[in-house]
Amino acid sequence: MNRRKEIVSRLIPHTTGAVLDSATAFAPVNIALAKYWGKRDIELHLPVTDSLSVALSVGTTTTLYQNTHQDVIELNGSPVAESSPFFQRLTQFLDLVRPSPSFRFRIVTHNDVPTAAGLASSASGFAALTLSLNRFFQWNLSAESLSCLARLGSGSACRSIFPGFVLWQKGDRDDGMDSHGIALPFSWPELKLGILMASSTEKPISSSLAMKRTVETSPLYSIWPSVLEKDLRELLETLETKDFSRFGSSLERNALTMHATMHTASPPICYWLEETVHYLHTVWHAREQGLQIFATMDAGPNVKILFLASDELHVRSLFPQMMEIPLRS
Ligand code: PMV
Repeated sequence: MNRRKEIVSRLIPHTTGAVLDSATAFAPVNIALAKYWGKRDIELHLPVTDSLSVALSVGTTTTLYQNTHQDVIELNGSPVAESSPFFQRLTQFLDLVRPSPSFRFRIVTHNDVPTAAGLASSASGFAALTLSLNRFFQWNLSAESLSCLARLGSGSACRSIFPGFVLWQKGDRDDGMDSHGIALPFSWPELKLGILMASSTEKPISSSLAMKRTVETSPLYSIWPSVLEKDLRELLETLETKDFSRFGSSLERNALTMHATMHTASPPICYWLEETVHYLHTVWHAREQGLQIFATMDAGPNVKILFLASDELHVRSLFPQMMEIPLRS
């Protein structure tokens, strides 16, 4: 038995094989404030460091059925080709949990993320699939086990099992059983998030490949764990104190440090486009003028900005094209 399958067999209880006719679940997109960047175990998606995210109100809803001869996947109302990487990735994940090798699924999945937001995320997708499998097979798994299972689909999916602010503790075990999300008891209703689109086309290099190349070749990667630790500590402190200026400085520095490690990889990885740089300069200039606004970016060119509700009109006048997405706390 391969390693991933052996771990899944420990996560999932022995069941009677009874399944429901169908099961549906929703999971949110999450945005990292302290980033997951680098794996200590590539096969199990175990991270080098902890990370912290906040959930959005948009995400993925997935319904599962049993099918007769083959797996069938529908995404946003259209069938997904068997040859596509998306189909392959999903069915490989399903191979880990099929009650028998011949068991086949029909999966109907819908992203309510506005396509133009460029947020179509594997994290909400694998989390919604995991939650719907839990219902379909009536496993009654704990949130921690669901989070570990979702991580095997995509690392950051382990955070999308929960609403609100989520800490993904890296864990120390080789089998990853202690590497899962934890819901944090913070709420911050005044906190707002907007998206500034630079491009909605597919990213040139996947986050997994970009992480691997960065870990292997960037001379800056060695400082990443200590930077992350400091930024994360400050973020957690400021979630308590609601010191927005410190909170924003930490999350922005964390994103910029992550991108600096990629820019210094060999060959270099740069997701930024002209528009990305323009948005960043506009954010920094507005801050010099006294506006409390901060930016974060993931493995892509789009910029996410964070600000407080009291500054929303000002931020909108600066970025009329901003797409505001409510947080899910
Ligand atoms: O879970 P993945 O393999 O898609 O990696 C996500 C990596 C970042 O989005 C860049 C950071 C993060 O913590 O979400």
